[in-house]
Amino acid sequence: MIVEMEEWGRLKEHYEKMKNVHIRELFQKDPDRAKRFRIEDAGIYFDYSKNIITDETIRLLIDLANACSLKERIEDMFEGRTVNVTEGRPALHTALRNMSENPVYVEGKDVMPEIKSVLKKMMDFSERIRSGEKRGYTGKRIRNVVNIGIGGSHLGPSLACKALYFYSKKDIKVSFLSNIDPSQFVDVLSEKNWEETIFLITSKTFTTFETLENAKKVISWFLERAGKKDALKDHFYAITANKEKAVEFGIPEENVFLFWEWVGGRYSLTSAVGLPVMIAIGKEKFLDMLYGFYSMDNHFRYTPFEKNIPVILALISIWYNNFFGAETHAIIPYDYCLREFPSYVQQLEMESCGKCVDNEGKDVPYKTGQIIWGGVGTDCQHSFFQLLHQGKRFVPVDFIGFFTPLNRPYDQHKKLLANMFAQSEALAFGKDDPVPYRRIPGGRPSNIILQEKLTPSSLGRLISLYEHKVFVQSVIWNINPFDQFGVELGKRIAKEITDELFEGKRKEHDPSTRLLIEKAKSYISKQEVLEKEDS
Ligand code: F6P
Repeated sequence: MIVEMEEWGRLKEHYEKMKNVHIRELFQKDPDRAKRFRIEDAGIYFDYSKNIITDETIRLLIDLANACSLKERIEDMFEGRTVNVTEGRPALHTALRNMSENPVYVEGKDVMPEIKSVLKKMMDFSERIRSGEKRGYTGKRIRNVVNIGIGGSHLGPSLACKALYFYSKKDIKVSFLSNIDPSQFVDVLSEKNWEETIFLITSKTFTTFETLENAKKVISWFLERAGKKDALKDHFYAITANKEKAVEFGIPEENVFLFWEWVGGRYSLTSAVGLPVMIAIGKEKFLDMLYGFYSMDNHFRYTPFEKNIPVILALISIWYNNFFGAETHAIIPYDYCLREFPSYVQQLEMESCGKCVDNEGKDVPYKTGQIIWGGVGTDCQHSFFQLLHQGKRFVPVDFIGFFTPLNRPYDQHKKLLANMFAQSEALAFGKDDPVPYRRIPGGRPSNIILQEKLTPSSLGRLISLYEHKVFVQSVIWNINPFDQFGVELGKRIAKEITDELFEGKRKEHDPSTRLLIEKAKSYISKQEVLEKEDS
């Protein structure tokens, strides 16, 4: 267990020396640290100098990583060994963007030919949609793509479609239907012409309640308008690792885009799950995105830890999480196009690292995972930044931005960058003032992650950076980042309560839930009477 390791003990002692050190003091003693605590590689400029760290901190953290056999674990993942121990399978999202000619084996079989064949199917399909060659049932051009999926089958493609909108074909609108909430259904389907719309049902398992319910509802909506079942084949597609279930659901086999059990849902953007993105930006740009992922994968796999961006980012997080007791970590992109990045990282980190049992099945006595949250700069400067600057909580921040803008005027972009730099300076250095309420304490750490410009490839690098950060943390914490059993219980109870609300099947519930169900039933019956009157 890590807490029993000597390396952990040394970090604890070191923390005692560091806990009251101000970032201001670190810079006064060592002005050169800005140059030293900085990595420029794989297209990324990573400044981690405004952290409560010294050379010794980094050395001790790397000692911990070595003691946890991080290098070997990274190889295990890339080599397709069973790193998802609870589900007994590899986690090979890196194979999806393996741009080399090297094979990648799962149980002795090279998976690259299959990956390439699905990629080709995606490229052919997306090109046919984009060019107008593939049309709807009545011969109309496809103007809308609706992705029906949730969690990892939604957040990645949705993030990428927003982030890369600049590069996308503007006469095809991509929308996302994720929630079971009927308001989202109405919102997404309003003003959609069935003849011009295709639906991608995206679900790794093809058993997810929300997705299947929404898919069924969309099919009814579609048939009410099209009138013919025969039209379904030109408008409904499945993206899944469970072909049998998709076919059983009614999707023709040739309309299925496959991915594999060894691709985790939240790591699946570079699989067929990325199809809506490919339709939006085209196959060349999608390949650019894969190259971006691949370049960060290589940086992660082959760069010594001292210069390895995901490793350093993860170790600093561990430092704050496990030694400083930080509960949360804020992700703040200074780029409107990355507005969904905080939610994406939220699933990636919190579903991966929210575990209380280690790989040997023992309860972990240390904190794993952290609460990831955030928003877009500069908006959040005018909402929650006050708490970051003067509140009593310790919240490390990642600032993410780009040196050059996508959209003009450039002047405005300079102001955006200036604000990002200003926030990290203010957080770190604060300001003394004789008036207490004007005093800004400072000493609040942040990382700055910059790239030249938001492009498909820089987006790929950024996402891969966070995927690998999560992996490093999971190795240190000795937890499995590729399962999510915690979400199962809630799903089962929701099914029971749904059965009760619809069919009156009574199950045991605690008194609070029982009262809630009864109260809801009284509203539901009133609602049903009203609905009958309406129809
Ligand atoms: O409920 C959690 C989860 O299993 C996520 O891990 C996953 O991304 C999401 O549901 C959707 O799952 P699927 O792609 O199988 O529909």
